[in-house]
Formats: sequence, structure tokens, C-alpha cells
Amino acid sequence: MSAEKEKILEIAHASKQFPVSDGRMLTACDDVSLSLYQGETLGIVGESGCGKSTLVKLIMQLYPPTSGVICYRGEELTRLKGERRRQSRRHIQMVFQDPSQAFNPKMKIKDIICEPLHNFNLIKKSETGKKAGELLKRVELPEEFAERYPGNMSGGQRQRIGIARALALMPEILVCDEATSALDVSVQKKIMELLVKIQQEKKLSMVFICHDLALVSQISHRIAVMYLGNIVEVLEGSALKEAKHPYTKALLRAVFPVRTKGSAVIGLLEGEVPSPLELPKGCPFQTRCPECRELCRQEKPVLKEITGEHSAACHFIS
Ligand SMILES: Nc1ncnc2c1ncn2[C@@H]1O[C@H](COP(=O)(O)OP(=O)(O)OP(=O)(O)O)[C@@H](O)[C@H]1O
Ligand code: SF4
Ligand SMILES: [Mg+2]
Repeated sequence: MSAEKEKILEIAHASKQFPVSDGRMLTACDDVSLSLYQGETLGIVGESGCGKSTLVKLIMQLYPPTSGVICYRGEELTRLKGERRRQSRRHIQMVFQDPSQAFNPKMKIKDIICEPLHNFNLIKKSETGKKAGELLKRVELPEEFAERYPGNMSGGQRQRIGIARALALMPEILVCDEATSALDVSVQKKIMELLVKIQQEKKLSMVFICHDLALVSQISHRIAVMYLGNIVEVLEGSALKEAKHPYTKALLRAVFPVRTKGSAVIGLLEGEVPSPLELPKGCPFQTRCPECRELCRQEKPVLKEITGEHSAACHFIS
């Protein structure tokens, strides 16, 4: 899908390390290279602590990468300063897991939704009500909500307000980090449908982070699988069942259990996940990989193309 599309965001060899109290460095993202194309939904999956939110925070410029670059439409975000840096933030907006925590309970919904527009001086105070009404309509909430306060709203309604606020600046990229995880399944489904509808109508690019591989595969054009700060496989959402990396295959078995010999279920992998404070030499997945060999302990495999839309980081996949 992405071959003929315009590349909108490029992450090249981005790493992020955090200093910890004993003076050591924790590697949350390790030499990540990834592109996002216009109108594409890119899913990012992987177990808790694998670096998904850190990657998103690098994209959002919430902190700089330790090394590597992030480019938006060819412009190196990581080099921007001052007003140009502030302006560049308009194009990439985020929907949080629980946006209500960021809402001031004393502000009316119209002011919450339009706050980003006021921050960038894009509308006058007198235009707030009308603009908020338009944005509420876009997220399928009644316009009357504009005059309400964020208390007394359901989780789904609050999430719609969060989406409306994220859309206010008409971003080109919408980043959703576990945006639906805190919601009931039925509400989650409706929010997902809304996000997909908006993404298609506005030709938005979307980065969608979620633990749930099955859910992500339903809405993503491509999926990037992360393990211990590394991207280990990238493939089309519709081709997920053809995953080749041993880690992705294990994730898939956990999501879609395979039954063997009657009732036995192939579970998730044994073995410890190495500490991000001491990344192993060689393949990051070596301690849990059923196919690990000597080479895996010596050399780190790079992410390489298998076919046009499919890449994997494993010595034994070609
Ligand atoms: N500000 C920070 N300082 C130190 N370590 C951090 C910081 N932020 C994240 N980490 C560590 O970086 C690693 C990656 O964390 P991150 O939050 O990106 O994972 P995640 O994939 O989003 O996990 P989850 O699915 O639980 O949200 C973890 O080991 C985490 O403890
Ligand atoms: S490189 Fe080796 S340890 Fe890593 S995923 Fe491939 S087979 Fe497993
Ligand atoms: Mg996270």
C-alpha cells in the first residue's frame, strides 16, 4: 500500500536512553528506523515495556532522541528550535489513554476542545462556541456538550472530547497510545470505528499503539512489532498471519491460540526478557527464542526486507 504513497514521517536510527539512579543507562528505544505514509494507519505492538510509548514521545517531540533523527515531510524535527519547533507540533497530535486527566474540570468542553486553537492564535474568543460545535459533530457528540463541564461524562464521551481536541489543529498525523484500552469492549469498538472513519475522511496518517494484536491488525495498513526497544518485524496488517519472526509468531499464538493434541494450547514463550539496563550482545530476543543458535548470541540481526512490505530482524529469515 505504501509504495506509491507519500512519506510523511521518517524515523532514522532513533535511540532513546534514560539515565537511572545508579548511573547506568536504560535503553527504551534501540536504533529504530520506521516510516509513516500519508493516509496510512501504522500499528505498533509489543509487550509492556518494549518502548512503544517512548517511540511515540520521540515522534511527539516530548523529548529528544539520544541519537538518530526524526523528519516530518523532510524537515528534521530534532533540529528545530523556538517558534519553528512550536509550529511543527501542530501537525502531529495525540489522543491519550485517559484524556480526562489532562482536562481542567473547571473549563467548559468548548474551551477544552478549542484550547489548542487559541494557543496558536487561530481563532478569536467569539468563535469558540461555533468551532467547538463543528468539532463535537465530527466526533458524533451533540453540539450542546460545548457548554458542559468534563465531569459527569462517560469514558467513551470523554475519549471523544479528547479526539475532538486532537483534531482541532487539523493535524496530518494522529497518534493514539492505548487510546481505547481503558474503555469497555463495546465502547472501545465504537471509538475505533470513529477513529477509522475520521482517518479515512481526512486522509490522516495514524500511529495506533495497542497491546491487542488482533485489534490492531483489523485497522492497520502496516504493523511494526517491537521487542526490547527494537523493531523486529514490519508487515501488512492483512498479512499478519504470515509473520515470520519468532517473536511475532509467539504473540500470534497467544492471541489466536493453536490447539494441538486435544486440549494442549501453545502458550507464550519461556525465558526472561533481558533488562533494558543490560541489553544482550546479539539478538535481543535470544533468551526466549526457540530457534536461537550461536550466531544469534554473537551478532545482532538488522531489520531487512523480505518482500516489498515485509521486513524482519532475524538471521534465519530470508
Ligand atoms: N522517563 C523514563 N525514565 C526512565 N525509564 C523510562 C522512562 N520512560 C520509560 N522508561 C522505561 O523505558 C522502557 C520502555 O517504556 P515504554 O513506556 O516506552 O514502554 P511501553 O511499550 O509503552 O509499555 P506499556 O505497554 O506498558 O505502555 C521501560 O523499561 C520503561 O520502564
Ligand atoms: S536472530 Fe536468532 S534469536 Fe533472534 S529471532 Fe532470529 S533465530 Fe531467534
Ligand atoms: Mg506505553
